Amino acid sequence: MLVLGIESSCDETAAAVVADGERICSSAVASQILMHEKYGGVVPELASREHLRAIEPVVEQALGQAHVTMHDVDAIAVTEGPGLVGSLLVGLVYGKALALALDKPLVGVNHLEGHIHAVMLENKMDRAADKSLAEARVPAVTLVVSGGHTTLFLVAPGAPGSNPPYPPFAYTQLGHSRDDAAGEAFDKVARLLALGYPGGPIIDKLSRFGNANAVDFGHIRMKGNPLDFSFSGVKTAVLYRVRGTELAAEAEERRAWRKTVERPSLDELRAHCSQATLDLVSGFQHAVVQDLVERTLAAAEEARVDNIFVSGGVACNSLLRQRFVEWCRGFQVFFPSPSLSTDNAAMIAAAGYYKLIAGERAGISLAPHASFPLGVKRA
Ligand code: KG4
Ligand code: ZN
Repeated sequence: MLVLGIESSCDETAAAVVADGERICSSAVASQILMHEKYGGVVPELASREHLRAIEPVVEQALGQAHVTMHDVDAIAVTEGPGLVGSLLVGLVYGKALALALDKPLVGVNHLEGHIHAVMLENKMDRAADKSLAEARVPAVTLVVSGGHTTLFLVAPGAPGSNPPYPPFAYTQLGHSRDDAAGEAFDKVARLLALGYPGGPIIDKLSRFGNANAVDFGHIRMKGNPLDFSFSGVKTAVLYRVRGTELAAEAEERRAWRKTVERPSLDELRAHCSQATLDLVSGFQHAVVQDLVERTLAAAEEARVDNIFVSGGVACNSLLRQRFVEWCRGFQVFFPSPSLSTDNAAMIAAAGYYKLIAGERAGISLAPHASFPLGVKRA
């Protein structure tokens, strides 16, 4: 079954063709990063307009790369939420129009479900090339960690209902961020320090030159569900260490300098950062990564699963990957490759495939949802 996936929930317009939920025939992504960079974050109205401009060429590109036409596609899967409503609407209306005009089945996909499926899709592709690799099986605890979300799920095989085919996967939300998503915290700290946008990849690279032990943010503590996250405290702790100090003056100098260079190289940026700034971002990254890994590990131990999946843009973080491998011995930890970790439509097509084979269909009333919980909450 060839599924055309469409994703437009935030600042990436993406389309992909995936065969049988396990082989990526094509994956096209038009990123809006350059457009939002000067604002230090995604501007919703600009994002919607850019999706409108990009949706058709991106879908054409995905079909072309897969050497198929719209008529060869068996079904369409489109992100229905969570995300920016104006952005979601573009992909959703395009997908609905295609399905209606071509008389093809349509399903709506939760963006977070897409990120979870990115792990299994990557693993299926890897195992097709090398059978000796471990299989990313459910039940698994999954950390979805991106600019919009930091959520822990238990992903289990779907419970057989009275009318098979039943949904192949069942999701339980174990915990989520009560304030900023981890990626959002990276982006805000980078903006405060005038390091560029998006902040995650820049802080990841700069941190290698800093000493994380020089600035100790301690453990992130909260009352209530121990599997919830909170990153606003560590973000504010960075602000307090900057405000009124020479680090603030340095950041303003960097802000002025950055206006004079289009895209500085890492070496150029590093040359404009004092050791104190490098130590600060390194300590911040260390605190966030430690918290993400420890809570995920606690969730996996509590759920008594062997497999941990990590997905979403922040899953690209090199320290996060390293720490998961070092600290989660005894567990199999699976990450998608960087291009499948960040927003893409292959993950939407893969998640959609399983809904389609379970008989799910969306009608013409399919609507976008800004907030769209996945699965049930842990009791
Ligand atoms: O999944 P994604 O592409 O979009 C959302 O659904 O949010 O994730 C984007 C987020 C941004 O906040 C970005 O700063 C973060 O992922 N990110 C990283 C890294 N690469 C991307 N954060 C930390 N380290 C990275 N290497
Ligand atoms: Zn995402």
